Amino acid sequence: MLDKLNEIEKTALESLQSITDQAALEAWRVANLGRSSPLMQVFTGLGKLSKEERPTVGAAANRVKTALESAWEERAQAIKEAALAKSLEEEALDVTLPGRAVRVGRLHPSTQQLRRVLDILAEMGFQVYTSREIETDEVNYQLLNFPPDHPARDMQDTFFVRAEGREDNPILLRTHTSPGQIHAMREYAAMNPENPPPIRIALPGMCFRFEQITARSEIQFNQVEGLVVGKNITFADLKGTLSDFARRMFGRHARTRFRASYFPFTEPSAEMDVECFVCGGKGCSVCKNSGWLEILGCGMVHPIVLQNGGYDPTRYSGYAWGMGPERQLMLRYRIDDIRYFWGNDLRFLEQF
Ligand code: DAH
Repeated sequence: MLDKLNEIEKTALESLQSITDQAALEAWRVANLGRSSPLMQVFTGLGKLSKEERPTVGAAANRVKTALESAWEERAQAIKEAALAKSLEEEALDVTLPGRAVRVGRLHPSTQQLRRVLDILAEMGFQVYTSREIETDEVNYQLLNFPPDHPARDMQDTFFVRAEGREDNPILLRTHTSPGQIHAMREYAAMNPENPPPIRIALPGMCFRFEQITARSEIQFNQVEGLVVGKNITFADLKGTLSDFARRMFGRHARTRFRASYFPFTEPSAEMDVECFVCGGKGCSVCKNSGWLEILGCGMVHPIVLQNGGYDPTRYSGYAWGMGPERQLMLRYRIDDIRYFWGNDLRFLEQF
């Protein structure tokens, strides 16, 4: 029996020599120290031995067991260290290599221009009011004084959402930021219906029109609307504020002029031009030799629109305007095709 134990020890230790990985080591442990290993069977058989033999064999078996266990532990440690050394070598890091440049993103030119406009307006005391892109016919048109069949609607071709039973008030994508005027006035008026507070806000955002996409027209574009409502607001306030805006935006010496125009939601209405900043007013291809560039539409808020917003037109007056940041960029950088803005061509975007 003692010979057998020596034999078990010798074979086990020998086979351990060739083991170099975790899986084989585990298999070795099961085979040599597991419940059905030859060594464990010696333990199980101890009871059948004679009284004299039992202590010697038992002690010898225990010694073999301890020897195998510590040999196993030593091997496990060695395998672990070898794996670590290998991974250090394989994943060696050359800290002297130059780094890879990270490609830095940037804001879209429209966003940059929107922010420029809003920064200037913020300096002038305007708060930003954001309104929804999905509107109803009522707010986009009717409450802004476009009656259902008014020819002025032809100015803006509309993306309507087809919905059963909403023929009187279809859902649509806003064609301008002006419907935000109604939401804003109603929200302000609700704070104090008897004496609504004054309003001075800028309403930025995307607008949508069902247009043929060409170099000059797109189906989506941004606008920044302005709205000022209060007591004794006059056309002089409109002219002063917008001329000041033009100087802050286009330069200290930028001159402006106002031309009479028509919008259903303002009366009187005007368009503002700035002196061409490309040729300084002398006449060039950008201003089509006129010396002036059209920048925005504006006017005194129509009494019906004030009323629809909850402001009594006999006590309150106001002015509003709408302008396009993409148009401003096109003029400033002489971009001759509006499709660049949503074309996602990096060669265009990386220039801003
Ligand atoms: N909503 C007009 C458009 O999209 C722009 C506009 C003109 C807005 C005059 C105004 C305004 O607030 O007073 O063409």
